[in-house]
Amino acid sequence: MKYKIAIEGGDTFDVAADEDSLLRGALRAGAGFPYECGVGGCGSCRFELTSGDMRTLWPEAPGLSERERKRGRRLACQSQALSDCVIRVRCADEYRPPVATRRHEARLARRREIAPGMAEFLFETEAPADFLPGQYAIFHPPGVEGPRAFSMSNLPNAQGEWRFVIRRVSGGAGSNAMFDALREGDALMLDAPYGGAFFRPDNDREIICVGGGSGIGPVVSVARAALKHGGKKALLFEGARTRGDLCGPALFKAEELAALSYAPVLSSEPADSGWNGARGFVHQAVETVGAAPEKYDFYFAGPPPMIDAMQDLLVMRWKVPHAQIHYDKFL
Ligand SMILES: Cc1cc2nc3c(=O)[nH]c(=O)nc-3n(C[C@H](O)[C@H](O)[C@H](O)COP(=O)(O)OP(=O)(O)OC[C@H]3O[C@@H](n4cnc5c(N)ncnc54)[C@H](O)[C@@H]3O)c2cc1C
Ligand code: FES
Repeated sequence: MKYKIAIEGGDTFDVAADEDSLLRGALRAGAGFPYECGVGGCGSCRFELTSGDMRTLWPEAPGLSERERKRGRRLACQSQALSDCVIRVRCADEYRPPVATRRHEARLARRREIAPGMAEFLFETEAPADFLPGQYAIFHPPGVEGPRAFSMSNLPNAQGEWRFVIRRVSGGAGSNAMFDALREGDALMLDAPYGGAFFRPDNDREIICVGGGSGIGPVVSVARAALKHGGKKALLFEGARTRGDLCGPALFKAEELAALSYAPVLSSEPADSGWNGARGFVHQAVETVGAAPEKYDFYFAGPPPMIDAMQDLLVMRWKVPHAQIHYDKFL
């Protein structure tokens, strides 16, 4: 069974009645529905319901303020159609999925600890792992309310291998379920690919990748793609608290690390540990490269304060054009 969703003054598309959200139904239909996080945190998928019936999945989702809710705004990633509907939203071609999204039955093939509280998860699907480097997948961790987003850290491949770097968040329901409720061999639905912070190879600029904490996952994928693409120089900054928290050495093969300019930056490494590398917050290390907006594309992922600091540096101070900035805020 399907519902017809008409956008006022725009396209009409069908969503399956059992689709988990209006947003994912719209993207699966190829619509250019605006979004970023896909999980209720950012507010980019706001729309208004003009007619029809919809259910709100997570009424307290932080992507909407109380005022917006009172004014009738809704989040497409937290809405489920219950009938044919007419909605008001401004769609754009830049949001059309560059790779068709689909749901896979995935099997957890292996989990490998790579740092304290951090592991690389390898899922396998029958169909090829079709995505662009830098994109993410949606999972419904077992026994947890609502979906969670995790970014692929490998490259697309015909063998159906999907790798993710996942951090166990203290008190976090979804991340802990990924570690504790899933055993090797277990199946889980993997819905992908999503996200707009994917690698753009078609220009002469070098790239700067910045990963904070588990944000290293998607930028490893982008940096790998740059290496594979050849000719594109990549500078990879990894921000971590201490030397023991770094993931880069466990994720890259030695020859990849040698080909990349890899710069680990530690914020809480003890002063007397003998560490000779960079110290401080990772965006401060990026600053030392010097403003050369025309020279680089920037890819970054990680916790909100790191993303805000990077945006302040790139947009406010270096005046880097919007089209050269690609990021995911791990909300
Ligand atoms: C685009 C993107 C990519 C990401 N990639 C990675 C990655 O590669 N590796 C990684 O470790 N982390 C990643 N994250 C963060 C990850 O999705 C989780 O936010 C993180 O693991 C903490 O989740 P938690 O469930 O443990 O914590 P919780 O505090 O329980 O939940 C955190 C988030 O889950 C969602 N949520 C909570 N409750 C509900 C509910 N009732 N209904 C619906 N949604 C709810 C909200 O978005 C909330 O901010 C990414 C986040 C985003 C947005
Ligand atoms: S995409 Fe819906 S709130 Fe971020």
